[in-house]
Formats: sequence, C-alpha cells, structure tokens
Amino acid sequence: MNILRKIWCRTYQGAFHIAQPLLPYKDPVVKQSINDIPEILRENNITNVIFVTDQGLVKAGLAKRIEDVLSGAGINFTTYADTVPNPTIENVEAVRKLYLEKGAQGFISLGGGSAMDCAKGAAARIARPKKQIPQMRGILKVHKKLPTIIAIPTTAGTGSEATVTTVITDSKKNYKYPISDFCLIPPYAIHDYSLTTGLPQKMTSTTGMDALTHAVEAYIGGSLNKTSSANAEIATQLIHKYLYRAYTNGNDAEARQNMLEASFRAGLAFSMSYVGYIHAVAHSLGGKYGTPHGLANSVLMPIILREYGECVYKKLARLARKSGVVTSFESDEKTAKLFIDWIQEMNDKMGIPRTLNDIREEDIPEMAAYADAEANPTYPVPRLMDKKELEKLYRLGMVGNAQSHPEPVEGQSKGRKRA
Ligand SMILES: NC(=O)c1ccc[n+]([C@@H]2O[C@H](COP(=O)([O-])OP(=O)(O)OC[C@H]3O[C@@H](n4cnc5c(N)ncnc54)[C@H](O)[C@@H]3O)[C@@H](O)[C@H]2O)c1
Ligand SMILES: [Fe+2]
Repeated sequence: MNILRKIWCRTYQGAFHIAQPLLPYKDPVVKQSINDIPEILRENNITNVIFVTDQGLVKAGLAKRIEDVLSGAGINFTTYADTVPNPTIENVEAVRKLYLEKGAQGFISLGGGSAMDCAKGAAARIARPKKQIPQMRGILKVHKKLPTIIAIPTTAGTGSEATVTTVITDSKKNYKYPISDFCLIPPYAIHDYSLTTGLPQKMTSTTGMDALTHAVEAYIGGSLNKTSSANAEIATQLIHKYLYRAYTNGNDAEARQNMLEASFRAGLAFSMSYVGYIHAVAHSLGGKYGTPHGLANSVLMPIILREYGECVYKKLARLARKSGVVTSFESDEKTAKLFIDWIQEMNDKMGIPRTLNDIREEDIPEMAAYADAEANPTYPVPRLMDKKELEKLYRLGMVGNAQSHPEPVEGQSKGRKRA
C-alpha cells in the first residue's frame, strides 16, 4: 500500500480508537431459555411479531419450538423461513414487506448468523424506509432506533446476537458486505443450549472457528481496549476448552452452553475492535461462491496469520498465554507459532480442509477489490495491504498451494506443552 493511503487508513482508525470510550455500545440482555420470550414481549408491549428463521431450522424442529411458545402465550406471529445462508437483499426485503403487511411490532430471529442478520437488515430497513440496503453498507449509516429484536442463536457462532453488524449479500452482483451501526445490536438475546445440541459436526466445527476468528482478529488489531481484550481472551479460553468437546459429543450441555458464551464474547470483542482481512476475504468468497462463512474463516485463519508474520507475534503470544492455549515459557515468536499450530491442529482434527475448492484465479482481482473496499480504511489490521497484496491471500488459500501446508514449527508435535 502506498504511503499516503497508509497514513489515511491509520489516521481514520486512530480517530475511531480515540472516540471509542464515547461510543454508545450496549450489550444485549441475555436470557437462558426460549420460555422467556413472552415476558420480554410483554415488557415491550409487543403482541405481534415477525419470526425470521430458515428451512434448516424448520426441518430440525427448532422453529416449531419457538412457534409453540408464541402460540401458547397468545402472541400473533408470522413466520418467514426462507432465509438462505449468506442472506440476500431479497430476503431482507421479503421480511420487511411481511412486517409492514402484518402491522408487526418486532422481530424474533432463530438461527445462525444468516437468520439473525436477515432480521437485523429488515429492522434497519423499517427504521430507514428511504435508504436501500446498499446505501447502508459500511459503518454508521443506519443511525436510528430499530424495532425490538430478540435474537436466538442456534450456532456458536457468529455472535450476531451481540454485534453491531449485519452481513448482507447483493445476489445480483455476488457482493457480500457488512453494515455496522450501534442500533443494530439486538436488545435481547437468548442462549438456550438445547437449540444447539443437534447442530451437525461440520457446522459445530466451522462456526466455532468463526467465533475464534472474531476473537483473534479483534485481538491483533490496533483498536483493542481493556473490555474487548478481556472478551477475546475469555472467548479463546472457552473455545480451547469446549469446542472439541461440543464437536465430539453434540449433547454435551456444558460444552454447548459455553460455546454460546464464547461466541457471544467474541462477538462483543469484534463489535468494539473490528475484524480484519480474514473476514474481508471470507465475505468476498461468500458473496462470489456462497462459501459458508465459518468454513472460509477456518481455512483462512492459519494461512493469513502465518502471512502476517512478525507483526502479530507479540499479540498472538499474549492471547495464547492469557487464554491458556500455550502454557510453556517460550519467546513471543515461538508462542505465536504454537498458537497458529493449535488452530491448524483443531482444523485438522475436526476435518476442516486446508484449502478452499471454490477459489478461481480469474475471480481473484474482483474479490480482492471487494475485500479492499471493506477493510480499508475501517479495519485496524496489524499490517495494511492494498488490493494487489490482498490477492496473494486468495492464492494462498487455493487448492494445491504448498504454502498452505507448511512444515510444523520446531517442537510442534513433540515436546510442546499446552494446557
Ligand atoms: N452479524 C454478525 O456480526 C456476523 C458475524 C459473523 C458472521 N455473520 C454472518 O452469519 C452468516 C453465517 O452464519 P452461521 O455460520 O451461523 O450459519 P447459517 O446461519 O448460514 O446456517 C447454516 C446452516 O446451518 C443450519 N443450522 C443452524 N443452526 C442449526 C441447528 N442448531 N441445527 C441444525 N441446523 C442448523 C441452518 O439451517 C443453515 O442451513 C454469514 O452470512 C456471515 O457473514 C454475521
Ligand atoms: Fe465471522
């Protein structure tokens, strides 16, 4: 990146970092059971809601559990169950239309990030009837109180129930982008582990690694503060302790509940301190090919962390020590490399591939341009990269790239002491 653009990016990020303590973050109220829904609605004088979910949740019988609670409490509701993974502008507009037609007063969203983001996008459109979704792309473009949202995650996850962000895909342009504003933080979240016990192994692994990516990208960025670093450390600690347990035994209640907490904490961390190039690249892949978000992040995380090299050693080492992932006394460089090895090892043992089949060389320049537009100047990444430099990250993630299969660092398999 040229020096003038670097100065612009760092000045922009510095201004937001200085303003951080003044910004209106508000954590959602978290309840533990879907049976708490009627009381929340009563407290907010809401008697008519749009229930946003997807077909997977309908098939899994989870949507019916919410509908039963609503019917039992005499709440009027209309279900929208057509949200697609990487939710589209069409999804958002369909939900908005239903909301207006039915004279609804709030939203309940059940699902992974896709259903939760769809409801957040629709709520933003209700608050801002004259602004189309593309006009809200980026940060602080919504800026108006939204109708009440109760967000209920069934993956752990995106942390969307806690974040300032909704990520929407323009399916005509194959372009996926975040919209971030404080009003997008849902006022209520429900962490009911029983909704996650049936999550398939493949989704448990990749969505859990998405949560780790949130913690890691927030931590290595330049806008970390006391609150976000504590949240990222706790999230990483919980993922270290519980993700593999949840993966091997989906019915492990303690592991599932703690993964919801990890996902939530990681969401809070990146809401304050941003994500980085791993996410910007993953979003462009989701928009172009429909690559599942968690899968893209899981594969890219070790690759891009290695590519960052020296500039992330200090922070990664600190995160590794604070979270208990590395307990032996080593240099920052060695500790950071052991941390990246742990990520790779987790991916490997949960059957996550080391490269992404989807990526095509001819698409890379366009996707890199999208990633550049998303990340620069907003994300306070450890090392700035322009479009050309970002192209390399896609190539590193392509099938057949030898650099994606590095030799383990010295002592990786033997003699390493980890908790
Ligand atoms: N708003 C944010 O802060 C934020 C953060 C990260 C990611 N995201 C976005 O979230 C989306 C990804 O969300 P996701 O990874 O949670 O997946 P998802 O919501 O796309 O769900 C993927 C699939 O898993 C199924 N599923 C979900 N929970 C299930 C359960 N308990 N049992 C059985 N099936 C279940 C769904 O039906 C769906 O078919 C992406 O669009 C991503 O960009 C948003
Ligand atoms: Fe994510």
